[in-house]
Amino acid sequence: MKEIPLPQLRKAAEELSERYRTGKKPYLTSEDHYYAYLAVRFPATLAAITRVLQEANHFSIETMLDLGAGPGTGWIAAKTIFAGLKKGTLIEADPRFIALGKQQIEDLVVWKQEKLPCTLEPHDLVLLSYSLGEMPQADKVIEEAWKAAQKLLIVIEPGTPGGYARIIRVRTWLLSQGASIVAPCPHQLPCPMQGSDWCHFPARVERTKLHKQLKSGTLGFEDEKFSYLIVSKDKKEPTGARLVAAPKIGKGHVQLTLCTEGKIVQKTVTQKEKDLYKRSRKLSWGDKTTH
Ligand SMILES: C[S@@+](CC[C@H](N)C(=O)[O-])C[C@H]1O[C@@H](n2cnc3c(N)ncnc32)[C@H](O)[C@@H]1O
Repeated sequence: MKEIPLPQLRKAAEELSERYRTGKKPYLTSEDHYYAYLAVRFPATLAAITRVLQEANHFSIETMLDLGAGPGTGWIAAKTIFAGLKKGTLIEADPRFIALGKQQIEDLVVWKQEKLPCTLEPHDLVLLSYSLGEMPQADKVIEEAWKAAQKLLIVIEPGTPGGYARIIRVRTWLLSQGASIVAPCPHQLPCPMQGSDWCHFPARVERTKLHKQLKSGTLGFEDEKFSYLIVSKDKKEPTGARLVAAPKIGKGHVQLTLCTEGKIVQKTVTQKEKDLYKRSRKLSWGDKTTH
């Protein structure tokens, strides 16, 4: 891989982050931006995708189609989750990302340089990770993606109000098509998140030395926020509850914010409820539970 002086790479990382934050397109315009993406954005989206795929690890997935694959992040994450994964088709419009992906991935995957929407071949899992928001005909892409998904369709977006709004739009349409929600919602009712709140979750990203040099801050980790949806073609009603905020641990009690049965509820578990209290203290934002 090419060596770029640190100040030059830092400048590219700052520009990239500013463009993603403000939605100023095109996001990547120089070779340095692609290397900055690999150093800063790739670890973050990899962590988010891995966190999401863990929610679907009970599905048997042999084939995967990644739409807007970038440097192949989705495939790299999926290989760590689905032992039976054999075939990958990665669709990406930008040839520079494909070239980087080919350097990163040694497995025999099929790269297709195409602009979505386009006709898609059936695969067990269809993934759109951090890409839907960049696509001008997003509704059409989702329609094709749902047709191609034999088992699961997964959409991941940045954990911002805009990313969440796109997830909700996709959710509403997919439910109208008979999709069953696997995660994060433990129900198929309208999303109860109201007002200024939006459904999003954190994924922990361990920061490398280079990551710390490119982005300010000294912490050994950062939390990437994402919104997501996993739907299946199998008919199954989701159950239970999901933690939609970080638990608040107090003296002798834990306060949980849960999404359950179409409502957001606050639940306080005290020391008196021995086993439940023990379990509650171990929960993290985003976990599924039976509370
Ligand atoms: C932010 S990157 C995400 C890459 C990867 N999925 C990840 O999670 O790291 C978005 C990718 O979507 C691609 N993309 C955007 N619009 C597209 C389209 N209409 N057809 C194909 N790819 C597209 C971009 O070129 C870019 O590589």
